[in-house]
Amino acid sequence: MTVVQICVGSSCHLKGSEELVKRIEAEIAAHGLEDEVLITGGFCLGKCNREGVTVKVDEDVFTGVTEQNFSEFFKERVLSKAKAGI
Ligand code: FES
Repeated sequence: MTVVQICVGSSCHLKGSEELVKRIEAEIAAHGLEDEVLITGGFCLGKCNREGVTVKVDEDVFTGVTEQNFSEFFKERVLSKAKAGI
């Protein structure tokens, strides 16, 4: 199981964490990975960025996830990991 923790701290919230949660949920469902990926919210990870949202995938922390780079982030950091775990 891959755990994706999306920061919902105030800085990330302002930069779109709510939308990001919806988008990740939709992608997980579209790929049928509901049993492989657990999506959670979390408080400030101490990595607030000028741009985008901070997301932790298992033990790796990624900053600056935006609407623009979401697809690449999802494919490289979440999808590949989740599929490797199947
Ligand atoms: S509010 Fe998200 S890392 Fe600080």
